[in-house]
Amino acid sequence: MPAPDLETIVSLAKRRGFVFPSAEIYGGFANAYDYGPLGVELKRNIREAWWRSMVQERDDVVGLDAALITNPLVWVGSGHVANFTDPLVDCKRCQRRFRADHLEEGAYGEVPRDANGNPLCPYDGGELTEPRQFNMMFRTQVGPVADEANMAYLPPETAQGIFVNFVNVQQSMRRKLPFGIAQTRVSFRNEITPGRFIFRTLEFEQMEMEYFCMPPRDRDNPVEYLALHRQWVEERLRWYIEVIGIAPERLRLRDHDKDELSHYSAATTDIEYLFPWGWGELEGIAARTDFDLSSHAKLSGQPLTYFDEDTGQHVVPWVIEPAAGLTRTLAVVLLDAYSEEPDEKGEKRVVLKFKPRLAPIKVAVLPLSKNDALRPTARRVYDMLRPLWMTQYDETQSIGRRYRRQDEIGTPCCVTIDFQTVGEDGQPGDDCVTIRDRDTQAQVRVPISGLVAALEERVPRC
Ligand code: GAP
Repeated sequence: MPAPDLETIVSLAKRRGFVFPSAEIYGGFANAYDYGPLGVELKRNIREAWWRSMVQERDDVVGLDAALITNPLVWVGSGHVANFTDPLVDCKRCQRRFRADHLEEGAYGEVPRDANGNPLCPYDGGELTEPRQFNMMFRTQVGPVADEANMAYLPPETAQGIFVNFVNVQQSMRRKLPFGIAQTRVSFRNEITPGRFIFRTLEFEQMEMEYFCMPPRDRDNPVEYLALHRQWVEERLRWYIEVIGIAPERLRLRDHDKDELSHYSAATTDIEYLFPWGWGELEGIAARTDFDLSSHAKLSGQPLTYFDEDTGQHVVPWVIEPAAGLTRTLAVVLLDAYSEEPDEKGEKRVVLKFKPRLAPIKVAVLPLSKNDALRPTARRVYDMLRPLWMTQYDETQSIGRRYRRQDEIGTPCCVTIDFQTVGEDGQPGDDCVTIRDRDTQAQVRVPISGLVAALEERVPRC
């Protein structure tokens, strides 16, 4: 099935409690969204899947949680104060402001152009000013006095907290190269282009890992370093396909051209997804050389080096950085899981075909009808499952409508309690329940005593 259009997902996300426009009662706020009860669970599950693959299942990566608001020199040392800028243009007629590169990349669709082919205002065709550089970091003040001396920044990425802690982590954890430091956290960027739902927002979560390795023998031809970069590119692509369940045909790799690379980067490859508006970045895997550690060492006067016992020398490690967007991955997971197909009666049903481990609700407990005879057993089953999985109890409306609702939020298993379970007309029940599978709609009957084991075969416990 082709990917749904964005409006379909935005509407489902709101209707079913995944993502709401922020501060909607006040008219919303551009590029800001709130995550509802199911969005929180989905985000948590994606983050946990990343942490499990990148930290728990590896013996060469450890975690970190660095302060968001920290010494502003971090952002001087990283180069963000000087270079984290984008070219902005203003419409001379309506005064609207745009990022020049986003106008060219089609973020506003086809824009009108003047006789020389230069873009004009996408809203009213007005002439645009020459581009001016604009820093995307948000500033704030620490302490009671609002002056430059107390100025701090909201972090535009998580990576720098890792670089400035390199020695702390390496020494406290007695790590040998190569090893990585992983972090998932919120980042902030003053984005002015309309964000296309949660693809581009002011505040977003990132999942980043800095993988430190020995410097290459030949800086000008770092063959082994570029091979390691490639390994990480392959590993990250595998993760999106096998762990997150994204359709491989909607993913592609894009190597940055030489003129696109930052001056310190030896290579960068983006993992891109086929969004409804075309290919867009999902994750960037950058070979950042020793740029960050060297710059922070220079500005702070503190050596950020590693003692190589084999050679007896202090070296500055080189770095590979897989940098993923958690909230952008959530958008991709919603888009990619969306499916429309016939239900048992041949009518259209909408299903979010999440990998079971990502599903916000793993099991729904549904008594066949709202009936006092069914409720005690249904509640007993619900109480039994709740500590093991995110479980929902629902006895309103017809069973068919409840199945549809659970399909639409991607619940892998529905457990139904009926009159055969509890018995009727004086006959004893069989104490069995029905498990209905979201994708095949197949139903199997299992004894309540074997229900946990039967569900464990279908949904991981988390
Ligand atoms: N430390 C490197 C770094 O931050 P990036 O390519 O600027 O690299 C990494 O960001 C990922 O973060 C992107 O691939 C994207 O998934 C996500 N991201 C970046 N800006 C974003 C925004 N404004 N809204 C949502 N996600 C964003």
